[in-house]
Amino acid sequence: MEGWSVPNQVTAMTEHVLVKDDAGVRQITLARPDKKNALTQAMYADVIAALEQGDSDPTVRVFVITAQGSAFTSGNDLSDFATAQTREAGSPSPAQRFPVVLTETRKPIIAAVNGTAVGVGVTLLLQCDLVYAAQTASFRTPFVDLALVPEGASSLLMPAALGKARCNTLLLLGETWTAQDALDAGLISGVMPADALLDSVMARARALAAKAPGAVRATKALIGADQPAVLDRIRLAGIVFGERLASPEFKEAATAFSMRRPADFSRFG
Ligand code: COA
Repeated sequence: MEGWSVPNQVTAMTEHVLVKDDAGVRQITLARPDKKNALTQAMYADVIAALEQGDSDPTVRVFVITAQGSAFTSGNDLSDFATAQTREAGSPSPAQRFPVVLTETRKPIIAAVNGTAVGVGVTLLLQCDLVYAAQTASFRTPFVDLALVPEGASSLLMPAALGKARCNTLLLLGETWTAQDALDAGLISGVMPADALLDSVMARARALAAKAPGAVRATKALIGADQPAVLDRIRLAGIVFGERLASPEFKEAATAFSMRRPADFSRFG
């Protein structure tokens, strides 16, 4: 999607990401439902392009991120993770850039979590400004189960948002939360019936898009005034995450996923 330009009210589409602009709202839809919207590098790149282009386009005032099918996203594509080990060192991958772009986006981002959210499907919510979920949605961050560490700034933002005690049931234990659990803990802004979710979120997005755009951006900037700490944590977590991807523990976890068996970490010290 490099170099693309999306005039207002036009739908753009790449293989697995749909982008639609209407009434100041840019709706970005993950569209890989057969793989539970697992995010490939190409999908990260498409979402980044839609955010960056929209952030500098005065006709776009609010972003909505949602997805097709029964999942919001099952997180990073696990086969992509495995090939990431062999990536040449150098410029950051789209997956590495994604949390940075979320941090630097000046306009509000609203998430409509239509179903299962795993891994980055949860951590990206910490960088959204409003999050609404279907009653049927669930939330899980199995980084440690995959012998990884929480990515991006989630190790900073999640304890700050939820408190360490609740955060660790997600980040350390990898427990699954219901939408109501997520609402009670303060991870999300609201829960609604699945069939009402998108209409309800779009109504809020249009209302936000009609407000004074400078005031909206300035409010978001004040709320996110700890941006340098967030960017520092993204860098630090990126280094540790890279070390984990290269570890024998991760190799066992990735093999176990592809063979559909539980991982066995008993031989590791
Ligand atoms: N990466 C790559 N492929 C994935 C995936 C991921 N993160 N999540 C799901 N898929 C694929 C499955 O391999 C399967 O592919 P297939 O039909 O070719 O066999 C397809 O999507 C459907 O997934 P399935 O597991 O059959 O659906 P489900 O409804 O039983 O379970 C999930 C859905 C999301 C709970 C389950 O797929 C899951 O736990 N995925 C892994 C999530 C994960 O660990 N993400 C990384 C976080 S850091």
